[in-house]
Amino acid sequence: MDAKLLKGMNEHLKLEFKASHEYRAMSVWLSANDLPGFATWMRQQSADELMHAQKFIDHMVERDQKAVLPAVAQPPSSWKTVEALCTHVLQNEQAVTASINNLYAMAEAAKDRPAIVLLQWFVNEQMEEEAAARAILGRIRLGGTTGVGLLMIDQELAKGAMPGMPASPDAGGAQ
Ligand SMILES: [Fe+2]
Ligand SMILES: [Fe+2]
Repeated sequence: MDAKLLKGMNEHLKLEFKASHEYRAMSVWLSANDLPGFATWMRQQSADELMHAQKFIDHMVERDQKAVLPAVAQPPSSWKTVEALCTHVLQNEQAVTASINNLYAMAEAAKDRPAIVLLQWFVNEQMEEEAAARAILGRIRLGGTTGVGLLMIDQELAKGAMPGMPASPDAGGAQ
């Protein structure tokens, strides 16, 4: 594999692990603040980020390249508001998208087709993740910065009815 691309993939691992760690910390804080729907959403996001990191690791290992796990900093343990938390999620996702686009350009320059195929999956994934974060943030800004509005959004998230995304097959079923 192209040395620059390999280095870039290893550097990208850090963003995925950092996001996973932060999202898990957010989930803890959201649970403590009586928002179980938001907490479940962030816990799932945390698991997804680990799966993303593993996808890159598997790709490198399968190609007999060296994957190096990064150190991960301690995440924050509290946020001022749910809106601030969700704003941070969106910024995180935008930073990951920028890194994916950068890797994609490197893979194209190196004519590395397996890497291009891998990164194509991530291009779509990032589009969905940004859309979900933006949709939830939009709903918070519409009427969920406090009290009842926030509780309503929390209930939607608890049902798996993610704004901006198709509902899961069992969402909205028997309650
Ligand atoms: Fe990710
Ligand atoms: Fe993500």
